[in-house]
Amino acid sequence: MTAKQSVFSELPVDLSRDRLPKHVAVIMDGNGRWAKQRGLPRIMGHRRGVDALKDLLRCCKDWGIEALTAYAFSTENWGRPLEEVDFLMTLFERVLRQELREMQAENVKIRFAGNLAALPASLQAEIERSMEETRNNTGTQFTVATNYGGRQEIVQACRAIAQKVQQGQLQPDDIDEALFERYLYTAGDRDPDLLIRTSGEMRISNFLLWQVAYSELYVTDTLWPDFDRSEFHQALCSYQKRDRRFGKVS
Ligand code: IPE
Ligand code: IPE
Ligand code: MG
Repeated sequence: MTAKQSVFSELPVDLSRDRLPKHVAVIMDGNGRWAKQRGLPRIMGHRRGVDALKDLLRCCKDWGIEALTAYAFSTENWGRPLEEVDFLMTLFERVLRQELREMQAENVKIRFAGNLAALPASLQAEIERSMEETRNNTGTQFTVATNYGGRQEIVQACRAIAQKVQQGQLQPDDIDEALFERYLYTAGDRDPDLLIRTSGEMRISNFLLWQVAYSELYVTDTLWPDFDRSEFHQALCSYQKRDRRFGKVS
């Protein structure tokens, strides 16, 4: 544990435990820029990005945040240079293999959201294994959005519902928000309370389009590999100042 980390191993005193977000989602952006600033290849930024994610996951456990969802690879990221895509797929596989024991020890339940069938077979096997081995864990619920696209998720839900209607198992009038939600990758999950994006970009980039309807947004200029506990602390302070009205009057 680094000195900086140990200072923050307890929930900072200026945060109120009963007003913490229960589910935090994060768009981990800026790995490439982090590397470029240091004259390094982009992949070095992705490597350091893994360390930032590992610490955020541990921090959620330390501070009592129930669920973390991280955007690791979008359906649009296939359009990057082949070497970068290959590097990322290999990195995901290696990290999963290396971190499984630690996640078990920390009682993390890992899951994946996205079109997993299009991922390399060896990565799919690691994904299956990690979900299977942590399925009964009761600690932090950690969802990794991999080959995830919000539009693709909504379209696949529509297709599955249409098939049920065609087979006569559902009537069009049965389709409401609660039913629709059950066909998403995140079926049964609480929507994110807080969505964090690093690197300053003010956009959603096709992440959790349905689920972020009423999430609080927090954007920081900090690049993802530099996002540490003090940055997370700032995001939570901002969150605790928000008035979540959900369309009503306060
Ligand atoms: C986010 O960092 C990681 C992934 C999308 C996999 P980027 O790779 O998008 O970094 P920038 O935005 O180019 O700096
Ligand atoms: C969003 O970042 C996707 C992930 C963090 C996995 P991008 O870097 O792909 O988003 P854009 O291209 O800036 O919108
Ligand atoms: Mg980016």
